[in-house]
Amino acid sequence: MNDQSAAVQIAPISPVFGAEVHGVDLADGIDDQTFETVHRAWLEHGVLAFRGQTALTAEAQVEFARRLGPLHAHPAAPAEHENAAVFVIRTHRDSSISNGNGWHSDVSCDEEPPSATMLQVQLLPDGGGGDTLFADMEAAYATLPPATRERLCTLSAVHASAHVYPGRYADRGADEVAVDTPSAIHPVVRTHPETGRRSLFVNPSFTVAITGMERSESDTLLADLHEHCTRPEFQIRHRWEPHDVLLWDNRRVQHFAIWDYWPHERSGHRVTVQGTRPFFDPGGIEPDESPIRVSIGRLA
Ligand code: SIN
Repeated sequence: MNDQSAAVQIAPISPVFGAEVHGVDLADGIDDQTFETVHRAWLEHGVLAFRGQTALTAEAQVEFARRLGPLHAHPAAPAEHENAAVFVIRTHRDSSISNGNGWHSDVSCDEEPPSATMLQVQLLPDGGGGDTLFADMEAAYATLPPATRERLCTLSAVHASAHVYPGRYADRGADEVAVDTPSAIHPVVRTHPETGRRSLFVNPSFTVAITGMERSESDTLLADLHEHCTRPEFQIRHRWEPHDVLLWDNRRVQHFAIWDYWPHERSGHRVTVQGTRPFFDPGGIEPDESPIRVSIGRLA
């Protein structure tokens, strides 16, 4: 083992998911062995928070993200950074909307949504706030009764963006004519392509209907699922410190960037990695019994 990988420490945030990473300097670049350690930890924990970082250049951020796969192109993001792979996250006094201020899995409306998102918040709001919440969809799936899981495994849902993207970034220089509004049908329960684990794959920002179901039944089921998925038992909360870098797995988690800091400004750089088409493997393995106990309500 070389010196770099010996310094890496992975400290779980909760028994459910999420971990802090210490002893890694992303600005300096990391060797293959360290990358492997980080990659394994990311697959195991779903969200990694790299503490003790310095400001990353776009090149360093893009280089790290590329080691996870080819990059994903956002269908509607404004081209604000000279490096086209960087999506500038920015909310300020005059913003009418704040990116990510609602539960979602990044761009789940794409046929092949991003696998990873890597975000460094460069400017934290004066006076605090601007935390990011995460919810673990493996835990959300694992806590459901077996008969409910079995039913959900047979369903698919429409993920749309025509209600999300048009006009959203108009005040930030987005070419509104070029804004694409993809939509896709994905399984309600997806199998993770790298770990084989199952998770719920619906979110209130993009998922608009269960396919082949009456509108009212679909609305009720989605409302119940959204409520279940965002229970506090499945959540962690990241309180940003200067130059933290987050790396999350959109195939497993949802997130919510809280806009509670108006009139202050928050900004950062986001880079996403191209994922593959979500699928459900009927021969896959069911999760172990969850350590979390929740009251299921109408989903039972
Ligand atoms: C996002 O949804 O990608 C933004 C997350 C954040 O700003 O914390």
